[in-house]
Amino acid sequence: MAPKILSIVNSKGGVAKTTSCVNLCAGLSLLGKSVLGVDLDPQANFTHSLIGDLEEDAANITEVILGKASLKSIIRSTHLKNFDIAPAGESMVNLDLQLQSTIGREHKLKQVLSDKFLDKYDFIVIDNSPHVSLKTVNSLVASHAYICPVSAEYLPLVGIKHLLKIIEEIKPINPEIRNAGFLITMSDKREGISSDVEKILRETFPDEVFKSLIRINTKLKACPQKRMTIFDMEKPSGKGFTDYMCATKELLTRVGS
Ligand SMILES: Nc1ncnc2c1ncn2[C@@H]1O[C@H](COP(=O)(O)OP(=O)(O)O)[C@@H](O)[C@H]1O
Ligand SMILES: [Mg+2]
Repeated sequence: MAPKILSIVNSKGGVAKTTSCVNLCAGLSLLGKSVLGVDLDPQANFTHSLIGDLEEDAANITEVILGKASLKSIIRSTHLKNFDIAPAGESMVNLDLQLQSTIGREHKLKQVLSDKFLDKYDFIVIDNSPHVSLKTVNSLVASHAYICPVSAEYLPLVGIKHLLKIIEEIKPINPEIRNAGFLITMSDKREGISSDVEKILRETFPDEVFKSLIRINTKLKACPQKRMTIFDMEKPSGKGFTDYMCATKELLTRVGS
């Protein structure tokens, strides 16, 4: 069966898109699902968090989208079983410019991800940059659903309205795309703003907010440098382990496993 493709998106930076991408992919793999993570952010934080720097001449997903390398040739294993990654690299900085003059430019990633060999994966999860660009459009056009991490540290509705506007523009090209859920991150119940954000989100989008909350947790900050996921860093009783495992299980019910 073809994999389910999910985009992690929010047009705001620092809301835990990459952190959620790493740990939801890891969570899925721990639950026995086979996962390919795709890094579509030129900053390559997703790639660095798991495998570090690529060799200088190594191709990345940019060259695959431009038809200069095969997807199979760039895929790397992570330290977790069933969790591979298609990395980003420096060449991605010019990708939008290079795609601009290409026919079918919004569908390039969808084409790449329709390769039959990807049927061995249950899920493909794409990490996006906050800057909404042709790359983000490619990600959303290729996806069955999107997950929108929302930091509980500030009132996020402006950013969300921007995202929903983009989704409306995508719908004529990809009518089936749906919201897998807003995932509240960096929740801190001691801070009034956290509860306000949660209340506003749940009232505005009653069925579209994950019940699972990701609490603020300094261990999550320490993971990328050690190339670890929260599941390597903490015991099963740990705060981050529990939060991301609950969110992963809920994701499976929200998108169908
Ligand atoms: N639940 C959390 N608690 C504390 N810090 C977090 C949490 N989630 C993410 N962070 C930290 O917040 C920063 C931004 O997260 P990141 O995933 O890079 O955001 P984005 O990809 O949306 O820009 C990083 O330093 C990350 O380690
Ligand atoms: Mg990021």
